[in-house]
Amino acid sequence: MRIGVLGTGMVGRTLSAKFAELGHETRIGTRDVAAAMASTEVTRDGTGTLAQWQENNPEVPVATFADAAAHGEVVLNATSGVASLDALRMAGEGNLEGKVLIDVSNPLDFSRGFPPTLSVCNTDSVAERIQEAFPAARVVKTLNTVGAPVMVAPSAVAGGEHTMFVAGNDQEAKSLVTDTFLRGGFGWKHVMDLGDIKSARGMEMYLPLWLSLMQVGGSPLFNIAVLT
Ligand SMILES: NC(=O)c1ccc[n+]([C@@H]2O[C@H](COP(=O)([O-])OP(=O)(O)OC[C@H]3O[C@@H](n4cnc5c(N)ncnc54)[C@H](OP(=O)(O)O)[C@@H]3O)[C@@H](O)[C@H]2O)c1
Repeated sequence: MRIGVLGTGMVGRTLSAKFAELGHETRIGTRDVAAAMASTEVTRDGTGTLAQWQENNPEVPVATFADAAAHGEVVLNATSGVASLDALRMAGEGNLEGKVLIDVSNPLDFSRGFPPTLSVCNTDSVAERIQEAFPAARVVKTLNTVGAPVMVAPSAVAGGEHTMFVAGNDQEAKSLVTDTFLRGGFGWKHVMDLGDIKSARGMEMYLPLWLSLMQVGGSPLFNIAVLT
């Protein structure tokens, strides 16, 4: 499958590398390719600058948001939640039309320091805003409730005995994301469909608890399990 990943942070890199490993033709998108490739900024996952990451992942070309979105049959939003609408506008509404748009973003606003506040919550979510702004895209919220390494390697935590959530209005899109990527590609055993896109509110509002759990545990390698 052709996949366009929007976002060059650790999530965009982790998911792009995994998609490529699974045989998907993947492009990773950024605002300005030349600036991103010249950037000396390094990510916390130890993959270095984007140029260094690209050297180690030559099968994933770095493209503009628009080129990556145009390339993708499936598009994945891994941009900063406070900037996701801007990033998707740069990707171009026409390049998202009719496509499954996986949204892994969180509405974390670090402008007043740590801990961040939620830029959208209670009666709204980033996912809903994306679905509203791009009505022809088939938005599926998922993966935002775990750290990047856990997204693509759930078995690294408790043998995979924990829960991933999905939310979205399009049942077929949710099934494709669940079967092809979550269960099929990444190995998630327990995927819970929370319902329509409004359910993304709870998934995004979980983030303050996730941050506390990470601080207390000292590692992003954890998740929650829904037990009945
Ligand atoms: N880090 C994790 O483990 C984790 C886990 C779950 C969910 N998430 C969520 O996943 C998303 C990506 O996280 P991340 O840590 O990989 O990276 P990030 O630093 O949150 O986001 C990086 C991306 O956001 C884009 N961006 C930033 N400001 C922008 C603006 N004003 N306009 C357009 N694009 C802008 C950047 O574009 P350029 O490439 O042009 O700089 C870059 O590609 C976030 O929403 C985060 O909350 C992260």
